[in-house]
Amino acid sequence: MLFQTTSAHEELRAKIRSFAEEEIKPLAFLMDQNNEFPEEAVKKLGKLGWMGIPYPKEYGGAGLDALSYAIAVEELARVDGGAGVILSAHVSLGSWPIFAYGTEEQKKKYLVPLAKGEKIGAFGLTEPNAGSDAGGTETTALDKGDYYLLNGGKIFITNAPKADTYVVFAVTTPDIGTRGISAFIVEKGWKGFEFGDHYDKMGIRSSSTAELIFNDVKVPKENLLGKEGEGFKIAMSTLDGGRIGIAAQALGIAQGAFEHALSYSKERVQFGKPIAAQQSIAFKLADMATKLRCARFLIYSAAELKEQHAPYGMESAMAKMYASDIALEVTNDALQIYGGSGYLKGMEVERAYRDAKITTLYEGTNEIQRVVIASHLLGRLGK
Ligand code: CAA
Repeated sequence: MLFQTTSAHEELRAKIRSFAEEEIKPLAFLMDQNNEFPEEAVKKLGKLGWMGIPYPKEYGGAGLDALSYAIAVEELARVDGGAGVILSAHVSLGSWPIFAYGTEEQKKKYLVPLAKGEKIGAFGLTEPNAGSDAGGTETTALDKGDYYLLNGGKIFITNAPKADTYVVFAVTTPDIGTRGISAFIVEKGWKGFEFGDHYDKMGIRSSSTAELIFNDVKVPKENLLGKEGEGFKIAMSTLDGGRIGIAAQALGIAQGAFEHALSYSKERVQFGKPIAAQQSIAFKLADMATKLRCARFLIYSAAELKEQHAPYGMESAMAKMYASDIALEVTNDALQIYGGSGYLKGMEVERAYRDAKITTLYEGTNEIQRVVIASHLLGRLGK
């Protein structure tokens, strides 16, 4: 493990940072207030080639590495947590399973427009009775000869209804557990595919999150992703990578809040000196910076392992768990440094505090991350 970014990574960071500062930051307050998706900024991200950062150029991507992708999510989340997850859900969850498991035809038809940012991707796994227990999937896809008949629904789906392409998991063989689940590529606009509630969330309000409803949706046979019965493994391996994205989102949210608190603590004078000169504040800043550095190393090293095709499922779960736990601590400390002013709407630390919470919940709660880590450490004993 190198624990070092290259100058190319830092140049990319600088470009994405200035994009985020110019195109997203000025809108972040209103997007949060109005639950508004950054349509124009997402289109621009596509034109700049950043909606397909880690995919090969032949499939419309930028041909960069997993670390570049993590840096991109981190930099967007530094100004707006919602923008970070839009990219993360699109790249890791909506596009990656097609890249990893799709046929050549599926990649040409679906991955290319996703990687170019012409289409937006999403991932339909979670259901009312299948949250942490993803194997409890109840949506069904019955084999009808030329097509599968999809019935059921998904909840809490990031990027819905904005997304065009959905990787959806459904039971094709009942009563055999996770081995009876298959994955499908489903297009927005197909008859019987509708959207339910658009959730009114505590944070990441610039990202859209909705329910998917499937009523007798005819999914062509060629839209089966991978083999029948492979769906659960596709979902789990997708989440291994997705967790790097959520970890980077958590890091970006915390980094943004830290930077605000650092500069405020140097300007705010109480008892005749800047509050940063009080040891209680200085120590808090020291702890925050240390936690950010630890999280960054965990995330970047997991991305490096992924890039090298080494096992990384345990490391990405560790990165996601740690980065999101410290994101709660760091945003809380940032708000504490601001005192009452930080509690006001319109203050970036107030938004960061709300945005941070989701990172401990989605792509597996942090309790599930511990299950994943323990099962890597203990094998069947961990069950
Ligand atoms: N890669 C490949 N295969 C895997 C795997 C992985 N990472 N993890 C497990 N598998 C395989 C196992 O080897 C096993 O295969 P066999 O049938 O051949 O033995 C099979 O999958 C079943 O594995 P388990 O017995 O471990 O499965 P389980 O039912 O006990 O569940 C779990 C394990 C880790 C708890 C899993 O259910 C899980 O990850 N839950 C959390 C779900 C989650 O993260 N949801 C997030 C939704 S998406 C989201 O949140 C996006 C967003 O909003 C941004």
